Parts: sequence; C-alpha cells; structure tokens
Amino acid sequence: MSRKMKNQVLKGLTIERIASEGKCVSHHEGKVVFVSQVAPGDVVDVRVTKGRSSYLEGEVIQIHQYSPDRSDPFCSHFGVCGGCKWQHISYPLQLNYKRQQVIDQFQRIAKVPIPEVKPILGASESTYYRNKLDFTFSSNRWLTSEEIASGEEFERNALGFHVPKRFDKIVDISHCYLQGGISNEVRNKLRDYALTKGFSFYDLIQQQGLLRNLIIRSTLSGQTMVIVQFGEENPEAIRDVMAFLQGEFPEITSLLYIINQKKNETFHDLEVHTFAGKPYIEEEMEGLVFRVGPKSFYQTNPAQAHRLYQVARDFAGLTGEEVVYDLYTGTGTIANYVAKHAKQVIGIEYVEEAIIDAKINAEVNGLENTLFYAGDMKDLLNEDFISRHAAPDVVITDPPRAGMHEDVVRMLLKLAAPKIVYVSCNPATQARDVALLSSAYEVAAVQPVDMFPQTYHVENVVLLTKKDSA
Ligand SMILES: C[S@@+](CC[C@H](N)C(=O)[O-])C[C@H]1O[C@@H](n2cnc3c(N)ncnc32)[C@H](O)[C@@H]1O
Repeated sequence: MSRKMKNQVLKGLTIERIASEGKCVSHHEGKVVFVSQVAPGDVVDVRVTKGRSSYLEGEVIQIHQYSPDRSDPFCSHFGVCGGCKWQHISYPLQLNYKRQQVIDQFQRIAKVPIPEVKPILGASESTYYRNKLDFTFSSNRWLTSEEIASGEEFERNALGFHVPKRFDKIVDISHCYLQGGISNEVRNKLRDYALTKGFSFYDLIQQQGLLRNLIIRSTLSGQTMVIVQFGEENPEAIRDVMAFLQGEFPEITSLLYIINQKKNETFHDLEVHTFAGKPYIEEEMEGLVFRVGPKSFYQTNPAQAHRLYQVARDFAGLTGEEVVYDLYTGTGTIANYVAKHAKQVIGIEYVEEAIIDAKINAEVNGLENTLFYAGDMKDLLNEDFISRHAAPDVVITDPPRAGMHEDVVRMLLKLAAPKIVYVSCNPATQARDVALLSSAYEVAAVQPVDMFPQTYHVENVVLLTKKDSA
C-alpha cells in the first residue's frame, strides 16, 4: 500500500521539526513524512520518493510559505553542491537544532537519565572554518538547467565538488565559503591556467586525463599545503603546473604532487613527491605543535577542535596522576594534548601511518609519557593488553560514526575505569553505546560542540562516571 504511494504528491504539508541527519519531519494522514532541504515552518508540496509502512520520504516540489526561520543562502552554489546544506537556516537556529538532536537521540535511543544538555558551543566563525578542501578536476561539468535550456555551448571542464550521488558530475566552484586564505585563488587560478594551456581535465568515466585532484590544507597560523594529483605520468606538464603554482603563490609552504593512475583518488598507498617547501604543515595548540603530513588526519575545524579537546580534558578532570587511555586516537592529537596533565597516556588506533604521526608528534613536543599502538580496537584492547598496561583512571573514546564495536563496549565494562569521556560525531550511535554502558555508568555531563557550521552534523561529548553500586 505504502510503496504504491511513490511519486504521489502530498499538498500543503507543514514542516514541523528537524529529525536526525538534517531531515525534516511532517505528517500525512497520521504517517511521518521525512523531507530534505526545508525548514520547520515551511508549507510545501512534496513528491513521495519512498513509501514504507511506517514512514514516507519525499522531495519538495513547491514551497507555498517560507518559514520565518529561514535565512538567505549566501553561496551561489547552494542547492547543487552538497557542501553546506543548512545555509537556508540562520546560524543561531542551526545551533538550537543541533542541541535538540542530541537531546532527541538520548531520549529515543539511550533511554537513560541525563543531566540538562549544556548549551552547544557554537563556532565564532561560521564560514571559512575548514583547514582542508578536496577538489576534483573533471571533463564533465555539471550544467545548470538554465544552461541546458539555453542550447548554447559551454566549457565542459570543471574543478570543484561532486554533485551529491553523481560520481561523474562536478560542480565548477567559483567561490567556496568553507576555507579562507588563498584557497579560492589557488583553485581558480590553477583552473584558468590549465584551460589556457589546454591541459586535459580528468574524464571520470574513461579514467584518463592529466589533472585529477587538488587538495588544499591550511593551518590557523597561515601555512598552506597544496597537493596536486595527476592522472598521467607526464614530467614536462607536471613540472609546468607545479612551477606555475610555486611562482604564483609564494605563500604555499608545502607544494606536493602525486601521480595517481588507480581507479580512485585515495593516495594512502602512493608516493607523495615534494616539489617545493616542507613535506608537512604544522598546526599549533596551546604551545604544542602537530605535524600534519599529506596522509595525516587532522580535525578539519581546528578552532573548534581546540574547544572540543578542552571539553574532553575538563571532563577527564586530570590532576597529573592519572593513566588515560585514548581510544581511536587518530594521529594522537587528544592523547598528546592531555599528556602534560596525566601520568601516562596510551593511544590506540587502526591506521598504522596515523600511529607513526602520533609518535612523531609526541617526540616533536618532548612528551615522554605517551604510548601508541596500531590495531583494530576490538582485537587489540583485550585481556592480554590490559594485563601488560596500567589500568586506566580515565578512558577517552572518539570512535568513527558507526560508534564502538560491542566487544569494545564489553571490554570497557570490564576495565571499569572511574570515568569515560565519550567524544562522538554521531549522537545516535553514541546514545546506543551509552545505553550498553548504563549498567555500570551514569551520564554526568553532556556538551555538544559545533564543528561544522552550515551542516546538520553535530559533535557531542559525554562524561560517564562509574555508578557507586557497579
Ligand atoms: C573520529 S576519528 C578520531 C580522531 C582523533 N581522536 C582526533 O581527534 O584527531 C576516529 C578514528 O578511529 C579510527 N578507527 C576506526 N575504526 C577503528 C577500529 N576498528 N579500531 C581502531 N581505530 C579505528 C579511525 O582511523 C579514526 O582515526
């Protein structure tokens, strides 16, 4: 019955509230309807794209009344580019919705008592906050409906972002509000130069072309790393492109390139060549220096990452005497950040290269009380590991979106550390894991942090303390 509703148009729905993943909720004949790209208060017509017995999903085909909560999107690429999907909602309201999402997920999934969720820590910069952008060259530019309707011929080469769900189509970006500094200028000048010189842009279907990908990374202190991926081994053209960037942008402190003839743009297994400058950039936090290489992960909003880490450290309540486990440590940033406030910190992470970075960063900062191990958490954090290391006073855990494996949660219950600080980029899986830990832990504090303004993503830190009876 519900499947038959596909493509039906539901008229005059009032959008009621925002649910998880940025989808909004309305109702039709008592059934929940999820709609994207709208705001609470909008009155809209919706075409059903998916019908299920318990809910419907739909896309807006007409807006009859705009919500008073709407604000004008500031980016000319809004709606086509998948980047900043919440620009139509004012920043203070985005923050309210994000905090509400945390409350909803804990009520719906964790079903445990929680203290009042603290006001979300909003970003002072809601644009130009990212330190990394990844652009794709393509010979198949996304054309707007107006361009197609005009019947004219347009330049088909593009340098920009993928259209959501269209791996082969790229939106040509003229200005991106996510990264400041020289980012926009580097991308635009490189594209113009390549067009003038007639260098080929990558054909994502045929898998050929010289220019393939451009990554720009930056630091709060103004260092810039530029990585160009080439799809062809053409030394003369590569030298030409790289020399152009070097001459045009003396501000680039790390100018790198990669020859990538694989089927995808990932380059963890490829050699990175240094054309000019250093092979890394350095981010700074409270006097600590973090070396970020082309393959290293670093939180993409460094200003808010600092606030996130401050929350984690405050929740941990360190006095200098504690043994801290930092699970899912990445390049060891949290571990190294708290090391001066603890007796010992042990970081565990899946990616071996990240653990190498973590060790380098500990060394660069003269930290001698950290230990780092690479391996899958559920295998590495076992009885044997625990017997060979001091028991933790505090566990800090920052898993990926999927949350923690059940075996890891079981091991945390066995470890029985007095405190667990759970940092998460997905409150739904965090709430699930908190429910599993609730036999022995209670939620003592909840602090959402906004790492990604203009998007529905929310980061959340929870302090769990061991129950007296457990
Ligand atoms: C959200 S990031 C944590 C980043 C880090 N705490 C930071 O602030 O930079 C999650 C990390 O978990 C790692 N990871 C994912 N699955 C894992 C697993 N099964 N075992 C160990 N680490 C894993 C990822 O490689 C990633 O570095």
